[in-house]
Amino acid sequence: MLIFGIETSCDETACAIIKDGREVISNVVASQIKTHEIFGGVVPEVAAREHLDTINVVINETFENAKKDFNISPDDIDAFASTVGPGLVGCLLVGLNAAKALSLCYDKPYIGVNHLQAHVCANFLESDLKPPFICLLVSGGHTQVIKVDDYDKQEIIASTIDDATGEVYDKAARLMGLSYPGGIKLDKLAQEGNKNAFKLPTAKVKENEFSFSGLKTAVLRLVQSYKGKELPVNDICASFQETITTTLINKTKFLADKYNIKTIVLSGGVAANSRLREKLFELQNEGYKTFAPKMKFCTDNAAMVASCAYFNRIK
Ligand code: KG4
Ligand code: ZN
Repeated sequence: MLIFGIETSCDETACAIIKDGREVISNVVASQIKTHEIFGGVVPEVAAREHLDTINVVINETFENAKKDFNISPDDIDAFASTVGPGLVGCLLVGLNAAKALSLCYDKPYIGVNHLQAHVCANFLESDLKPPFICLLVSGGHTQVIKVDDYDKQEIIASTIDDATGEVYDKAARLMGLSYPGGIKLDKLAQEGNKNAFKLPTAKVKENEFSFSGLKTAVLRLVQSYKGKELPVNDICASFQETITTTLINKTKFLADKYNIKTIVLSGGVAANSRLREKLFELQNEGYKTFAPKMKFCTDNAAMVASCAYFNRIK
């Protein structure tokens, strides 16, 4: 079964064609990072207009690649899918209308997809991972631990009570003068720093909660304490990264034990983080099976949307 997916929930215009939920036939992502960099974050109205300008180009390129590499034509597609939420409404509407138009044109079904479930399904792409597993979803807007009992049976068992992980990364990076999106830049600098240089706080919350606002404030205070002096950016990045990844992995491991599930996987943009991946894979020494999506499937893309449409379709 071939599904054409579209993702436009935030600042990536993306289309993909996926076979049977796992095999990538074509995958195109146009990022808007350059546009939003000058504002220090995503401006919803600007993002929606850029999706409008870009969507047809990305659709055409996705079909062209499928023809060139696999001799697959638009008529061969079995269903069209798009992200319906959560996300920026003006942005979502661009992808949704494009997918519905294609489904009308080619007389094939339309499938609406939840963006977070799609992030989880990024783990099925080019892999043979099967449920059950525990998934730590860490993106720009969400932090959740999800119990995946089956392809179409997912339950949120923990989530943040304030900031999302990617959001804290971007805000901490901004406090240190790094440009948007700061997460990936903070990750790079952290690799050059001393992770034990500063002791940063970890919130005491319930077993089904995360909280990162205290950590964010601690970074602010630390940066302020260096006013007029050279900021030890690499050491602050490394200490911040160690604190947040330890919290995330410890809670996920605790919940995996609680539900007696021995496979732990990552998803979402922050799943691309070097230390988080390292800490996840270290769990193999403790008898867990671990898994993370390929780097290109961590941040927003449409391959995960098409995969999710396949696994969650009405059979
Ligand atoms: O999943 P995603 O592409 O978009 C949302 O659905 O939110 O996640 C984007 C987030 C941003 O906050 C970005 O800074 C963060 O993922 N991110 C990272 C890294 N790569 C992307 N954060 C930490 N380390 C990284 N390597
Ligand atoms: Zn996302």
